[in-house]
This record gives sequence, C-alpha cells and structure tokens, in this order.
Amino acid sequence: MKVLIIGSGGREHTLVWKLKKSRKVKKIFCAPGNGGMLLDAKIIDIKADDVKGLSDFAFRNKINLTVVGPEKPLADGIVDEFNKRKLKIFGPDKKAAQIESSKVFAKEFMRKYHIPTAPFKVFSNAAEAIGFCKSVQYPVVIKADGLAAGKGVVIAKDYERAQMVIEDIMLNKIFGDAGERILIESFLTGQEVSIMAIVDGNKNFIPLLPSQDHKQAYDGDRGPNTGGMGAYCPTQFVSKELMEKINENILFPTMNGMIKEGITYKGVIYAGLMLTESGPKVLEYNCRFGDPETQVVLPLLNTDLYDLMMAAVNQKLSSFGSLSWRNATAACVIMASKGYPGKYSTGFNITGLRDIRDNNCLIFHAGTQFRDKRLVTAGGRVLGVTGIDKNLKLALNTAYRYVGKIKFKGAMYRRDIGFRALRPMKPINR
Ligand code: AMP
Ligand code: GLY
Repeated sequence: MKVLIIGSGGREHTLVWKLKKSRKVKKIFCAPGNGGMLLDAKIIDIKADDVKGLSDFAFRNKINLTVVGPEKPLADGIVDEFNKRKLKIFGPDKKAAQIESSKVFAKEFMRKYHIPTAPFKVFSNAAEAIGFCKSVQYPVVIKADGLAAGKGVVIAKDYERAQMVIEDIMLNKIFGDAGERILIESFLTGQEVSIMAIVDGNKNFIPLLPSQDHKQAYDGDRGPNTGGMGAYCPTQFVSKELMEKINENILFPTMNGMIKEGITYKGVIYAGLMLTESGPKVLEYNCRFGDPETQVVLPLLNTDLYDLMMAAVNQKLSSFGSLSWRNATAACVIMASKGYPGKYSTGFNITGLRDIRDNNCLIFHAGTQFRDKRLVTAGGRVLGVTGIDKNLKLALNTAYRYVGKIKFKGAMYRRDIGFRALRPMKPINR
C-alpha cells in the first residue's frame, strides 16, 4: 500500500515512523516533509495547504491512504476534495473540522450536548465585550473564534488587560478574520491533559493513551504559550476510572452530537481537558493529532496504525477490537530555536545526531532541512527527543541524556518536562 502524509512537523515524522512499521505499507510519501524523514519517506514538494495539488498527487500516484497532520488543510476542506475524487483520507471533513476551526462552534456544540466546559459568552461587538468584562471574575479567558496559529487564547488578569486584548483582537484585528467574534470564558484550574481518540463517524471511538503536554515556553510553565515544549504518556492523572468517565461524559456525547448535527467525523479527535475539582472539562477540541503528544503516544502503540486508520476511514471501528500498548512510559523533550514562539533565526548546523543509537530513544524532526548535505535548523520547534523506559523518571533521563548530545546554535528546551507528575501527588480520580 502507498501512504501519503501531509505536514512537516514532529507529529508527521512520528506518523511516518509508525506507519513504516506496518507490513502492509510499502511506500510512504510526505508533503512537504522535513529533513528527518528522508530515510523513511519520499519527500514531495507540495505545500500542506495546497488542497488541489495534494489531491492531484494522490490521484496520479494511486495513493491508498492519505493522512492529514495539521488543522489548516482540514479546515480548508481537503477531506471533502479527496472524498469527491473517491480517494481514501484519514481526517474530518470541513464541517467536522469546525470543532477546531471555530471556537464558537465548539462551545455552542458543547452547550447543546451537555459536554462539560467552562461557562462562556460570545461577542461580535467589541464595546459589548468590554462592557461585559466590567462584571466578570478575574482572571478571565478571551479567545478569538477562528484559527490563530495557537496564539488566539489570552488569560487576562484584570479589566485593563481584558480591554486591551479585546481591542487588539476585534478592532486592531491582530488575528485577522479569526477575531471577528470572540469568546469570553471562566478561568479553570487543575491538571491539563490531552485525550485523543480514533473515530469513524458511526459513534464508534477508540481512545488512545492519555498524555500531558507542556505548552509554555519556559520552565515552571512561564512565558508565552507554544505549540508544546514536551509531553509524556501515559499520564497518572487519568486513572482507568477517570478515563471511563471521560469516555462517557465527553467522548461519547461528542461523537453522538456530531451524528445528530448530520456530521460524519472520521479521523482523530483531540480533547484538551482540564481536570477540575468538579470533574474533567473540555478546554478545546482539535481535529487532528496533537504535537508533541503524538511523539509520546504512538511509540507505545503496538497495534498496526495503518489497519486502525483504515478501519476508521471505512467506518469499521466497531469490529476492530482493542488496542495493544507497550507497558512503558514515553517522554519527549522539544528542542526549539532561540526566540520561539516569537521571532527566531534558522540555518544553524545540527550536530550530535549520528552518535545516538539507542532503541529507547526516538528522534523526530520538525524544523530541520538538508542544505548542501548538512542538516540545519529550519523552524521554531526543531526536534523532539523521546525517551522510552519503564517509568517516567527513566524515560526522562534517556530523553535528557540525548538532548545534551545534540547541538545547534541557540538550542532552547525546557528542563522540567514531566514535573507535575514527578511531584508527589495522588492521581486525580473523580
Ligand atoms: P485552547 O487553544 O482553547 O486550548 O487554549 C490554549 C491554552 O489556554 C489551553 O491549553 C489552556 O492552558 C489555556 N486555557 C484555555 N481555556 C482555558 C480556561 N477556560 N481556563 C484556564 N485555562 C485555559
Ligand atoms: N500540543 C497541543 C496541540 O497539538 O494543539
């Protein structure tokens, strides 16, 4: 079988790595890919949001399965285009992808189907939103409705800040059209966890192991929000009992609600949850695999990913059976360029990778490129280093041991991945 993977990050490199393990997969293409995939995939020079170019490629090359990494092509309707041409593709269509592409859609959907989430109000007028902020409890969370490259959520600690943020989003349009409408919602506290599930549009879903991401740029959860600076899996904060609750109160009503809305959601659904005092609540949905979560979840999966994805695409998950997992913990440390998530420079030599030969260490590339036969930095998040061992502490030791060997100018990484779980704390089990 021939597989095409769309995207260029660590998530997509992980998908290449995992799909290559399938006996059924004979050839993998990745568009536009990155410098780390060359050994495992054929890199195709088509941008991830070139829907027409990608569907032409899949058609011409008789691709058996296309897997979409990032949200943008999904929100742009790549699945609808592939479906029209009868090409198999793993991912939700444009209507279903609204669960991520419109935060207002997602919140109203949750309200309608009684899925626990923070109380909220929607505004399309800046003056009204600012007026509302006079009577809210602080901190308050302000979210631009549309896709804003992960930057559209601001936690305002007082009225002055809230006013400034609303003006920036709605009047100064710092996120363009994504800020035509905003959400103002209550601030929740607790442990944040990432839950991904494979779904087939027929109410069937198979959850993957729960993981925990580290969104802020610097140690101790300080600094700006990023795409994610590290993750580990599984997380002790989600016990078996809590996972059952999440299935029952969140994943099942989500899939059921989709069907009631006349939407066929196939692919992966990601629920970002806050485990609050009063139970798990949805902070956001993503319509794709999380990154770096995928870099720690898929290495623990024994089941053939191609078979699993095909079962979802063909709406046959009900007879797929359960997944098999490696009894281990995976921890990933992201190495980023100095300045990320703001401005950063690229083109720096990356060294030290060749000396790493350890089955318990996986290196997934993100912003890397081969230039004149040298591997150089080419993005904000450069590499993910995943260690696998029997517990989190050992997995982190492995990841950090190899992070220390990889060098590039301005390399930046968090030194405290997994810190919440390493603190002596009982699992939350509500
Ligand atoms: P989102 O893109 O909606 O997940 O928001 C990005 C990040 O902002 C989340 O991962 C949380 O860390 C934080 N966040 C979003 N909504 C809330 C909320 N209601 N309360 C507290 N933190 C939030
Ligand atoms: N790591 C968070 C995300 O993929 O959105």
